[in-house]
Amino acid sequence: MKKLSYYILSVFVAVVFFVSAIAFPESVKYTVDSAEATETTSYTAEDIRSLQKFLLSKETPDLSGKDYDLNNDDIWDIFDLCLMKKFSSESNILIAYFTRAENVLIENPEEIDTDATSSASLLLPGNSAVMANHIQSIVGGDLFSIVAENLYPADYENCLRRVSEEQAENIRPSLVNHIDNIDNYDIIFLGYPNWAYTCPMPVFSFLEEYDFSGKIIVPFCTHGTGGLAGTVSDIKKILPEDCKVMKPVGISREDISDCKGDIEKWLLELGFYRK
Ligand SMILES: Cc1cc2nc3c(=O)[nH]c(=O)nc-3n(C[C@H](O)[C@H](O)[C@H](O)COP(=O)(O)O)c2cc1C
Repeated sequence: MKKLSYYILSVFVAVVFFVSAIAFPESVKYTVDSAEATETTSYTAEDIRSLQKFLLSKETPDLSGKDYDLNNDDIWDIFDLCLMKKFSSESNILIAYFTRAENVLIENPEEIDTDATSSASLLLPGNSAVMANHIQSIVGGDLFSIVAENLYPADYENCLRRVSEEQAENIRPSLVNHIDNIDNYDIIFLGYPNWAYTCPMPVFSFLEEYDFSGKIIVPFCTHGTGGLAGTVSDIKKILPEDCKVMKPVGISREDISDCKGDIEKWLLELGFYRK
């Protein structure tokens, strides 16, 4: 009986909200504006699920101590849920990427010929970083650069030699940066260049460092002429079974300077909309 009354209350509140949004758009706008003035912006996916469950009365979790009343009207309703989703939408996306330009040891920067094609992938921003920035400009989220402690040689042949050795020995290079709050992220975009038909090994170090159970991974890759090669299947081998890997995108380095449209199209296909 208690559950039924919660359910009826939730439906009633939802109907009132939508009717008032149509009939009194200004009053609804005012409420949102006043809520935006609050400083509460750190809601997690778990908070959203708790309030959603409460409003739908499937169960009544302990909400004590939670400041869910975002528009300060002394009730928890669907309005607060919408605001919570709005506030948390940027913090539940992580865009992690590896790019050569942020992983290269350049002893004599003045010796780099900035006009030479062979130097292009030594210069900032790297191609994966360009893609990561486009993704962030469209869906929001936090950027994270995967950087190996032991940087790679600037000389291409030497770099390739080290990559081959790392692959042969299945090495997991140590990383410089770490994420403290991986639980805050539900969706992880993962970007990298194709390095000798697979991901750079530091990408695998990153994947093995955290528990991605129940999360969504969205791979994005840049390459020469080799496409995505084995990158996505190698990523899947490492991730837990209940981690969903979405359709990846691959952009040739030739097309990087003009790839924002392709990235936006791919994101739309996946169901991500402009923030
Ligand atoms: C060590 C190394 C190995 C590479 N191996 C491949 C490859 O097997 N296939 C391919 O298509 N491109 C390969 N590339 C080219 C890069 O994938 C491409 O230049 C990419 O756009 C670089 O992205 P970044 O600037 O983010 O590092 C390789 C590049 C390097 C440095």
